[in-house]
Amino acid sequence: MQTIEEPIGVFYASTTGNTELVAEKIAELLAGRARLHDIAVEGLVAIPAYKYMIMGIPTWDFGELQEDWAVHWDALGQMDLSGVQIALFGLGDQIGYGEWFQDAMGALHDLLRNTGAQMLGYWSVEGYDFEASKALTEDGQQFVGLALDEDGQSGLTDERLQKWLVDVCNVIQAS
Ligand SMILES: Cc1cc2nc3c(=O)[nH]c(=O)nc-3n(C[C@H](O)[C@H](O)[C@H](O)COP(=O)(O)O)c2cc1C
Repeated sequence: MQTIEEPIGVFYASTTGNTELVAEKIAELLAGRARLHDIAVEGLVAIPAYKYMIMGIPTWDFGELQEDWAVHWDALGQMDLSGVQIALFGLGDQIGYGEWFQDAMGALHDLLRNTGAQMLGYWSVEGYDFEASKALTEDGQQFVGLALDEDGQSGLTDERLQKWLVDVCNVIQAS
């Protein structure tokens, strides 16, 4: 993994622990550059400290936001994040909830884009099987962040995560 000069804030919230586990893996892979922030505990208070962020959100209850993200949603949408670069990862279940796969990541992407943030880390839909998702680019070829599925494709998570982090770090390095 390449080193990056500035720290990367990793913000997440997790109901049953899957998103938290991925956030911890990201911190490990970034070898000391990442600072973990559980928004259920800390809220959004650390966000202004960062130029680079990774945010993780699971989708719950048929396309809805995870509950802790929902608490801070309006405040997040009111921030000015111009000039900040943000990559997203989402947790979902494409077999059990294939009509709403990763919808919350799509909602977070749209919210953040409206704050002026530069969104990066889009990810191909190749290798997934789902009916519908609100987390897709307009052409439907990519997710607007890394889509992870610990319920149906947990064996692919580590490989996906490593590849995606290299992509994200390359974009950040070049900026
Ligand atoms: C009741 C319930 C509703 C869910 N709804 C969705 C959904 O609408 N879309 C989706 O992609 N995943 C859905 N999931 C799957 C979760 O997003 C997935 O299990 C995720 O890994 C949970 O992350 P967490 O442990 O960080 O909370 C649902 C899971 C449960 C148990």
